[in-house]
Amino acid sequence: MKYKSLPASFYQQVRKQFMQKMKPQSLAIFNSNDVYPISADSTLPFAQHRDIFYLSGVDQEESILVLFPDAYEAKHREILFLRETNAHIAVWEGAKLSKKAASALTGIETVYWLKDFDRVFQELSTQCETFYFNTNEHYRQAVETETREDRFIKQCKLNYPAHQVAKSNPILQQLRSIKAEEEIQQIQQACDITEEGFRRILDFVRPGVWEFEIEAELAHEFLRNRSKGFAYQPIIASGKNSNVLHYTDNNQQCQSGDLLLMDVAAEYGNYSSDMTRTIPVSGKFSPRQRAVYDAVLRVKKQATAMLKPGVLWKSYHEEVGKIMTGELIDLGLLDKADVQNEDPKMPAYKKYFMHGTSHHLGLDTHDYGLLHLPMAANMVFTVEPGIYLPEEGFGVRLEDNVVIQEQGEPINLMKNIPIAPEAIEELMHS
Ligand code: GLY
Ligand code: MN
Ligand code: MN
Repeated sequence: MKYKSLPASFYQQVRKQFMQKMKPQSLAIFNSNDVYPISADSTLPFAQHRDIFYLSGVDQEESILVLFPDAYEAKHREILFLRETNAHIAVWEGAKLSKKAASALTGIETVYWLKDFDRVFQELSTQCETFYFNTNEHYRQAVETETREDRFIKQCKLNYPAHQVAKSNPILQQLRSIKAEEEIQQIQQACDITEEGFRRILDFVRPGVWEFEIEAELAHEFLRNRSKGFAYQPIIASGKNSNVLHYTDNNQQCQSGDLLLMDVAAEYGNYSSDMTRTIPVSGKFSPRQRAVYDAVLRVKKQATAMLKPGVLWKSYHEEVGKIMTGELIDLGLLDKADVQNEDPKMPAYKKYFMHGTSHHLGLDTHDYGLLHLPMAANMVFTVEPGIYLPEEGFGVRLEDNVVIQEQGEPINLMKNIPIAPEAIEELMHS
């Protein structure tokens, strides 16, 4: 494995917590993602479904995890089904998990080959009343593709029409939103790799450089540090592109006098980091760019300080909106009348800051977490205010990743990644 896996004890603990929340006489199933085809015999690189990974550490296609706390036989309380490996497969694809290696990785004693699944599952189905299915209920999901999990659920409902069904997702949303110490270390590692990439490009960016050349520098630095690469599609946006929130073309040349907004970060061990920095292409901010940058940085600092146990995501965003409104007035972008006349459903500041300030971060970049529940210690959030000014040809966003503490301010996992404008200017000139 490229990355250092978490210890089996972590996965054992997580499964225990999950099973404690299941109804009596119920069984939960979790599938790997498919390997997605391109055409002919080409495929996209495999990316594991984060839930089976979270519960087992298995980073391999065609795997199934079954959790059944009330199984008649103790050996069937946790079962892992894996694609059979053999000498032939090993020659073509390299070693897949053996039963022994899978047990050591996951802490699951019972590992069967996938070909035994139908038979074993039929037997277990007679011992349970309810199947927990793992549907995607993320607040931002917009998936058209039928996943391996979806196909399994469809088939299972056909094969076992008399069973009741329940949802795994709400349990996972709660468990995954609170990070264990080991998980925070993986995210920290992802942040540290991101730092390496950012420092590399501070030395590289100058007028005439192309956005894709910056992407290449970052990819190089991420891969050589045992990351699989970008945690999400990198946004490397110079000049007016910095106002396009989801710009990923990365095909323009950086011009002197422009700002360069980079929303780029590494993954590590399937955990995301999520960073945005905005730097001057020529190494020096103009006074106007600097004024906007300073405003965004102030909002970010104040927003971060508000992330505490008990706080509600919605009211936090309302408070950040008020702070941003004050900054926009000071920058001459809004006046008092704009604010007095604003529609509370569409406050005036949203003209310049149209996205959210924070989201959960973890195995997914926009991670699990039920937003109506109060914040709690060991939740990891991004803080990412921005001001976008198409009329002036630039936008500024700054984004760090923080861990909520029981007491006091959150810990910033990106505290070593330069953000002070003076530091950025100095490093670009050194
Ligand atoms: N990079 C995606 C985001 O900032 O939410
Ligand atoms: Mn981001
Ligand atoms: Mn983000």
